[in-house]
Amino acid sequence: MALTLDGRRAYTCILTKGPVLILLCCALSLSWMFKWTNDPALVTIPLHAEEILQKCQNLHVLPGPPLSRTESDRYVQTTRPTLLKNAMIWTGRVSGSEVVRGDLLMDKGLIMEVGDIDPEVLDAFGRELVVQDVGGAWVSPGIVDLHSHLGICYSPDLNGCSDGNSFHGIAQPWLRSLDALNIHDDAYRLSIAGGITTALILPGSANAIGGQGFVIKLRPTEEKTPSSMLLEPPFSLNGSYVNPSLPPRWRQMKQACGENPSRVYEGSRMDTIWAFRQAYDMARTIRDKQDAYCIKALASQWSGLGDFPDSLQWEALVDVLRGRVKIHNHCYEAVDLDGIVRLSNEFKFPIAAFHHAHETYLVPDLLKRAYGDPPASAVFATFAHFKREGYRGSEFAARILSEHGLDVVMKSDHPAMNSRYLLHEAQLAHYYGLPDNIALASVTSTPAKIMGEDHRIGYIKPGYDADVVIWDSHPLALGATPKQVYIDGIVQFNKPYSRPKPLSHQHIPKTPDFDQDAVDAVRYDGLPPLQAKISTSDVVIFTNVTSVFMKGSRRIEQVFSAADDRLAGIVVVKDGKVVCRGIEPCLEVHSDSNVRRVNLMGGSIAPGLITVGSPLGLTDIDLEDSTKDGLVIDPLLSEIPNLVGGGETVIRAVDGLQFASPDMLLAYRGGVTTAVTAPESSGFLSGLSGAFTTGAAHKLEDGAVIQDVAALHVIVSMSSDISVSTQLGALRRLLSGEIHGDLGAQFKKVVEGELPLVVTVYSADIMASLMQLKQEAEKRSGKAIRLTFLGASEAHLLATEIGNAGVGVILGRVRPFPTDWQSRRILPGPPLSEDSALDVLLSHNVTVGIGLDILGLGPQKSSARNTRFDAAWAALEARTEISQSGALALASVNLETLLGVDDDEDYDMVVTAFGTLLEFESKVVGVISSRRAVVDLF
Ligand SMILES: *[C@@H]1O[C@H](CO)[C@@H](O)[C@H](O)[C@H]1NC(C)=O
Ligand SMILES: *[C@@H]1O[C@H](CO)[C@@H](O)[C@H](O)[C@H]1NC(C)=O
Ligand SMILES: *[C@@H]1O[C@H](CO)[C@@H](O)[C@H](O)[C@H]1NC(C)=O
Repeated sequence: MALTLDGRRAYTCILTKGPVLILLCCALSLSWMFKWTNDPALVTIPLHAEEILQKCQNLHVLPGPPLSRTESDRYVQTTRPTLLKNAMIWTGRVSGSEVVRGDLLMDKGLIMEVGDIDPEVLDAFGRELVVQDVGGAWVSPGIVDLHSHLGICYSPDLNGCSDGNSFHGIAQPWLRSLDALNIHDDAYRLSIAGGITTALILPGSANAIGGQGFVIKLRPTEEKTPSSMLLEPPFSLNGSYVNPSLPPRWRQMKQACGENPSRVYEGSRMDTIWAFRQAYDMARTIRDKQDAYCIKALASQWSGLGDFPDSLQWEALVDVLRGRVKIHNHCYEAVDLDGIVRLSNEFKFPIAAFHHAHETYLVPDLLKRAYGDPPASAVFATFAHFKREGYRGSEFAARILSEHGLDVVMKSDHPAMNSRYLLHEAQLAHYYGLPDNIALASVTSTPAKIMGEDHRIGYIKPGYDADVVIWDSHPLALGATPKQVYIDGIVQFNKPYSRPKPLSHQHIPKTPDFDQDAVDAVRYDGLPPLQAKISTSDVVIFTNVTSVFMKGSRRIEQVFSAADDRLAGIVVVKDGKVVCRGIEPCLEVHSDSNVRRVNLMGGSIAPGLITVGSPLGLTDIDLEDSTKDGLVIDPLLSEIPNLVGGGETVIRAVDGLQFASPDMLLAYRGGVTTAVTAPESSGFLSGLSGAFTTGAAHKLEDGAVIQDVAALHVIVSMSSDISVSTQLGALRRLLSGEIHGDLGAQFKKVVEGELPLVVTVYSADIMASLMQLKQEAEKRSGKAIRLTFLGASEAHLLATEIGNAGVGVILGRVRPFPTDWQSRRILPGPPLSEDSALDVLLSHNVTVGIGLDILGLGPQKSSARNTRFDAAWAALEARTEISQSGALALASVNLETLLGVDDDEDYDMVVTAFGTLLEFESKVVGVISSRRAVVDLF
């Protein structure tokens, strides 16, 4: 490029020929300035003219992929070339519909070849080549998480994730998540165990503009630094020289709208959008100045130009306006989505994705009106209803968005949801109707595209990063678990996991039809009627039934199996009671033509499941105080008013029950017919739980309340404001009989063995002390205390002692996570450990149930509906063989034993079509409620 300086003297610099020439140019310009500096007729050009001109030239260059590679920039020299033979490879190509049966060759951190590989190519590697026959296993690209706080909100948590946000301003594009990225987070390894290889680490959502996000690979690096984990960081990151011959790299920016920033800054939605406009106006002003400057600079009109207008604070936002930044906007409701779409058009910048996006499925046309390409929606599958903004969220959102041709991403928001199980979100979205190719793309190629990295991750293609997962089943089958994971071609588990999965899990599950439900979700703006369509006392005949399960004494028994009887069975129900089941005898009973018949198409009938551990039934919207029963007063920290009875009072959950919330009715429709809920407490004493029907319209309905009092609940926790030893001291006194009033009376029942004591506890050390207290009290009374640990993250460490003491365990997270210090010593389960906690406890004859957990963030009561999949998954991955009856027992009769619920007579039965409750193929179509003397049909 030729530079002409004021028409008087000229020389030429080739700006793109590397540093030597550029240095030469600068030297020339310096000497030139020196020579002429005293001549008033001449204009001086700035010292860094060449750098500025470079900047000006590149001002409008958009990010793009680097040139093709023969070696990855992340290649670790010691990595051996690897051949995976005999694989079923989901490549991500052809809109996610291509499956290649064949081999996969990785070398130099890259995928080299896929399919039929020329033997000569392989021979060239000689003995270096690692060859692994994967035996026809499914292989996919590594899972990509578009929304994670891994490393920033680290686990076990010690600082309440306080590095995730800045509270110094509402719009701060200059902040960088990288500056808070801790390499010590147990979740890196755990998430790799779920197949996650790449994640976008975003700042939190407390600010309108929260700062820049960074893409990382999860594997440990030799260097052990956050910087060395980065994937294609922007060149400007460390302020060093930018090679202008390379296109810029994508940057990422976190934004948030709605109540998060407005709550934190005590402003309103109007204030937040104004903060956005003010920030973008600032960036626009700088950009326009730069453009005007560069027009002159490039024309060599240096006169009076001064310095290049720039701002270290605002440069990232200027880059947004230049189309070089992927905007990730936390945004739920139509009101806020509309505001951001307006903003994008006012300032002309595209939105890469709306995150959480609970209402995007209601406003597809709005998304299409955003500036540039329509934003993707990064959503959860079933996690909703936890605040007003998410109240209209729908499990059908993913499929509805994709039907409108919009991109869908399933994301974790780790640790809000454990990213180890991000693939399960795609499985659930698929269950509710997202096509299989799009479901798999939603955690691989689509997030890769949205973060601008789909030139190297998200696919299995030659030239792509060697991030590859070998699965033990089809990735969309329930419980799919990596056998091995490669990142940059580096093997991640010392010992590959090899327990076989059933053959039925080797292909895409054939999921049921939810078309009408999806239509209703939109028609009713996310709040479709969830009560049963038909509730009848008349005769209902279920035909084509493949299996029937009933309660025996504290166990589940399969009482009918079509496999044994050769013919699919018939079940006749009258007044909500099964009056006939089997084949021959029922043919006579149902000859009346007036009766309702339901063909279950190979379906099943089983006792309803139970949920425990969440505030279901006491809370409608978790984060909206005015929708809840609220917290009981913690007697260890506050005075309980005399009017209530002072410190000797026990609160009963049954007094605060609220029915017909979406989460309750969805649990009911998911086969969870009973909830056992204790009063919500932030401290030590919770109170008496009650058992009730999730499907009831109100408390006075017949059979709505199953048991006024189930168990007495206490929490002993290290996260309390009062010491653990104080809490245990209080419990010792309560068990000693020294306390009077209702509280004393209830504890007397506990000591007499009449009322179970359920202690929410995570740490094995606290469990040990609790078992000592139990022993002390039992020595005095001569009676056995019925003690149950709820939560129980570390129970496997004391399995022998827990088994010997006859203590029961309800796993609050059947798929464990080291949320905090007291819960950190988890047994991770496959592929990281052969056994799961469930295995260890069952092998010590402990009665185990599965429940939900109040620890940490995350979906609590909204995942009650998924209990059936949780039970099935736990049974599937257990080393001990667990039958279907055994799996159902984990979430039904075992919980009754552990929680003191006596429901052997008039219990509810769940009716499923196309399979049993435990399968992705089935759908719950009704509940037989003998207590309420009806059959509910959905
Ligand atoms: C700056 O970052 C680039 C890559 O992003 C790296 O190659 C370079 O060595 C870094 N410079 C310094 C001084 O750390
Ligand atoms: C019973 O269900 C099976 C599916 O399991 C189906 O193939 C069959 O056609 C059904 N039979 C009748 C009579 O509906
Ligand atoms: C568990 O119970 C079975 C049968 O009652 C018994 O044989 C076994 O020894 C018990 N296991 C342990 C670890 O107590």
